Amino acid sequence: MGAAPPGPRAQRILERLQAVLYKGTGHDLGPFVINGKHDWRVEDIDGNMYLDLISGMASVPLGAAHPDITEAAVAALRRYGNEDTHYFAHEFVLPLAEKLLAITSSHLVRVDMALNGTEAVETAVRFMRRATGRPIVIGFMGGYHGEAGTAGAVGAETSDLSFGYRALLPGYVHVPYPNPYRTPFLVRPGGTGDGTIDYMRDHLLHHAIDPREVAGVVIEPVMGSGGCVAPPDAFWSGLTDLCREFDFLLCADEVKTGFGRTGTMFAVERWGVEPDLMALGKAMGGGVMPIGAVLGTERAMDFDDVSTGSTWSWLPASCAAALETLAVFERQPILENVRALEGAALGALGSLMEKYQQVGDVRAVGCFMAVEFVKDRVTKERDMELTRRVAWESLQQGLLVDASTTSLNLQPSLVMPVEDLARAFVILDGAIARAVG
Ligand SMILES: Cc1ncc(COP(=O)(O)O)c(C=O)c1O
Repeated sequence: MGAAPPGPRAQRILERLQAVLYKGTGHDLGPFVINGKHDWRVEDIDGNMYLDLISGMASVPLGAAHPDITEAAVAALRRYGNEDTHYFAHEFVLPLAEKLLAITSSHLVRVDMALNGTEAVETAVRFMRRATGRPIVIGFMGGYHGEAGTAGAVGAETSDLSFGYRALLPGYVHVPYPNPYRTPFLVRPGGTGDGTIDYMRDHLLHHAIDPREVAGVVIEPVMGSGGCVAPPDAFWSGLTDLCREFDFLLCADEVKTGFGRTGTMFAVERWGVEPDLMALGKAMGGGVMPIGAVLGTERAMDFDDVSTGSTWSWLPASCAAALETLAVFERQPILENVRALEGAALGALGSLMEKYQQVGDVRAVGCFMAVEFVKDRVTKERDMELTRRVAWESLQQGLLVDASTTSLNLQPSLVMPVEDLARAFVILDGAIARAVG
């Protein structure tokens, strides 16, 4: 290890950055400056090494700068530079579109291009409204879908994110995410078997919103940034019944869960859910290039008059990176490793739960893991200060974890060996011990 972060070189750069960057971005920066990344290790310019359990917010699935994916992207860049793929197709468009349809539900038959996850969600919501002719979209409290107008409006991770503009974006309603640990709903006798669905039927759609005005539902199949929360099984059958009954479109935001993160190629597979639309991004570019996509059924995308995308969506190098990423999944047993990491994580998380009263809940779905710290296990009052302290102590011991939201999120590389994850949990355990004092 070099000088404890922030080391002297980082400190000088960070101070100057704070003076020129937008303050909101400047304040979010971590206390070091990256010199380089190797696999799932990050090196800072002061000589410190970190084990990375953030993975570029889940955009780097297969280790840093995977050589085959990087090569594919660089070769495409040399050959094409950029092209506005909305106007002129290149060699990679057809194989990528066909491949995406081949590896997802057979109901999904069309693809649209997006630059990233945010743009994919923006496009998906436009399609939902156009296909149904209805204005209202149902999102979930705790969900995150990006920072742009529509994506920001359908999301509701924490209220400060929409500070200043929530009132300017009508057409969205939010229901508490079906979170087994925090749901405010009881399962009532004679209901659907799921409290969230009962609430939607008995309250939201009965009192406040006429279902004839609802285009559909946008949901993360596993709530990612909001803390790795998987809905109970009964929720999914309740939701698909609801969508069928009222003709709502179901859009799965797989931007963070897609491409293996939850142990299946897409999280909806884990619950046998067949969405009408799917938004993709992040890991699709293999951690090398930005790219996103929207996949849809014929009903959800059977028109040509919705304007979508932007100049850099499906840049040739991004498509080449995405194709090579899928090829790596075909060549290597990555999903098996994800499930092995999930098993190891569940054991380690269980021990943390037993050891520390301050740990209110722990969760793991594939390579998505979270620890939720509380002031009191009975009241479940969140302890954000402790969450941030644990992240700080972890960082001082060479472990990067994400404390930017309501829980401590861990999202290791899908190809990290189980031994490295075990080492990360030893560091985390020590960090919690120090943080709780
Ligand atoms: C579920 C989900 N959807 C959409 C987005 C937006 O993706 P991006 O920021 O890559 O555009 C994110 C980003 O964190 C996400 O987690």
